[in-house]
Amino acid sequence: MGLFKEFVSQTRKPEGFLGKVMLGGMNSGHAAMADWGFSHLPPIVSEKAVDLGCGGGRNARELLKKYPKTHVTAIDYSDLSVEKARAFNRAAITAGRCEVRQGDVSDLHLPDSSFDLATAFETVYFWPGLEKCFA
Ligand SMILES: C[S@@+](CC[C@H](N)C(=O)[O-])C[C@H]1O[C@@H](n2cnc3c(N)ncnc32)[C@H](O)[C@@H]1O
Repeated sequence: MGLFKEFVSQTRKPEGFLGKVMLGGMNSGHAAMADWGFSHLPPIVSEKAVDLGCGGGRNARELLKKYPKTHVTAIDYSDLSVEKARAFNRAAITAGRCEVRQGDVSDLHLPDSSFDLATAFETVYFWPGLEKCFA
């Protein structure tokens, strides 16, 4: 695989040096599209939200801002994404409002009906079997 292709493929599961570089630009690179998505969320009062395939963790932070009473769980299967999302949301984690977990959306062990809001930005096209993952 050429270097460019290898770099672009890091969007699926950031790993190694190229994954770090990709994650470095992901939060800002995806902000416009994510904010468009956020603008379509209904005016609810969320108490427990989850962001799936959280990448660098920017959208978890946006959820914390948009829903000041919510606790956000951010999940990703990439070690690097988890590390970056934790660093990006360090203050909220310390404050007890955010948790970043490693996990594959196709095999999550979360209790049923435990979230009132679930988001996923620029990630569902990587998921193996949408019906299972959405469930
Ligand atoms: C293109 S990035 C988007 C990250 C973030 N949502 C954003 O909008 O900036 C896709 C992310 O989804 C994660 N991902 C892909 N498939 C996944 C799966 N099956 N389970 C958990 N995370 C997954 C990748 O590791 C990567 O961090």
